[in-house]
Parts: sequence; C-alpha cells; structure tokens
Amino acid sequence: MRMADLDRSMWSDTQFGVMVIYEDNLDVNIRPAIVADAIAIIDLHFTAVHQSASSFYPAEVLNTWSTQPDETRYDHIRRALEKGEELFVVAEDASGVIGFGSIVPLLQELRAVYVHPRAGRRGVGSAILRCLEQLALDRGVLQLQMDASINAEAFYRRAGYEILERGVHRLRSGREMACLKMKKSLTQEMTHPHSRPAV
Ligand SMILES: CC(C)(COP(=O)(O)OP(=O)(O)OC[C@H]1O[C@@H](n2cnc3c(N)ncnc32)[C@H](O)[C@@H]1OP(=O)(O)O)[C@@H](O)C(=O)NCCC(=O)NCCS
Repeated sequence: MRMADLDRSMWSDTQFGVMVIYEDNLDVNIRPAIVADAIAIIDLHFTAVHQSASSFYPAEVLNTWSTQPDETRYDHIRRALEKGEELFVVAEDASGVIGFGSIVPLLQELRAVYVHPRAGRRGVGSAILRCLEQLALDRGVLQLQMDASINAEAFYRRAGYEILERGVHRLRSGREMACLKMKKSLTQEMTHPHSRPAV
C-alpha cells in the first residue's frame, strides 16, 4: 500500500492543517470531514456498529452505542464538526464515504475509526488510523489512548496499540459497554513510513 501526495493546504483552509492521503491500490482518498459529511458519517456509524460488532455485544448495547440515525444525531455531529475540538477524517472511494475516524488532540484521545462493512478488511481502517496518527503528531500529540470496542482488539493490536486494562466505556446515555483501554506512543517513522509532506 502506497501513501503519497499529502496536500496540507486543504486542511489548513479548514480548522486543522494536515493532509489528504490517496491510497493508490485502494482508490481511496482520506480527507478532512466537512459539515456536509454529517449524514454519511452517522449512517456509516450505524451500519458499522450493527453489522461489524453485532456478535460481540448484546442488542441493547448496540442500540445504545449507535441509535437509529435521525436529525438529532446529524445535528450533533454537525456541531462537533463546526466546533473543531474533535478532528474528523473521512475515507471515500468512487461510491462515496466508506469510513471515518476522529481524534481529540487536547485529550490525546483516539475517538473513532469506523469502516463500512462492504469495504472491510481492505486496509481502509488502517489507512484512516495512520492518517489520524499523523494528524495527532502534527498537533504535537505524542501518544493516543482510547476506549476500544472489544470487536476491534485485533485491529488495534495489529496497529501497535497496547492494552492497558479491560474495562467499561460509559456511553453518552450513561449505559456502559465492555471495552479495552488502549494506548500507543507515536513516532513519525512508525505511523507514516511511506508518506511525504506536500509543499
Ligand atoms: C475495526 C474496523 C475499523 C476495522 O476496519 P478495516 O478496514 O476492516 O480494517 P483493516 O482492513 O485495516 O484491518 C487491518 C488488520 O486489522 C486486523 N483486523 C481488522 N478487522 C479484523 C477482524 N474483524 N478480525 C480480526 N482481525 C481484524 C487484521 O489483522 C487486519 O489485517 P488483515 O486483513 O491483513 O488480516 C472495522 O471493522 C469497523 O468499523 N468495526 C466496527 C466499528 C468499530 O468497532 N470501530 C472501533 C471503535 S473503537
């Protein structure tokens, strides 16, 4: 997988200045999310949770983790995108948005990586993760921690995240779900071995 052609100008025109990554062999482009992506992000979140994590959590957890998409959810993500504390990227191919992810630099937190099941196991999630790690590094964040869902353990371990403890994550509704507290120290070499900055 080759990563190239980082265009920092695109994100410097929005709230954060980083890159666009083209995954040549996947025909996937990763770019900063914009408010117009809100519906695609929420709809993808719902599908990914209810399909990819369905054998790991009971239905009531899945239903709380990702409720049926509606205007309230779309508005919530639109406000988050406008606010800019949580930085979102989307991965898209010719069919549209096939994945997204986010970090909260102030908290050194990896908040999300979600890939549409129809695009699973093609390296899209890994590409999003590398992009977020580079984004964190560009913001001076030297480690990322998170509450990972248990279905994503192999994915994050493969990417170099270590398990700190097995615990619970409190959803916004107050409901708890089993999770893994994970962490990774970031270095330029380990996150983007093939990337080059754009001029
Ligand atoms: C977890 C998730 C983001 C992975 O996305 P993806 O694009 O399929 O992941 P990749 O193709 O980049 O996988 C990279 C490696 O991670 C591991 N991996 C990924 N998904 C895996 C799975 N379901 N089972 C076992 N290993 C897996 C594999 O080692 C894989 O490499 P391989 O395909 O060469 O064996 C995706 O399944 C998803 O959206 N899940 C639901 C949402 C979620 O739980 N997100 C995490 C919230 S904390």
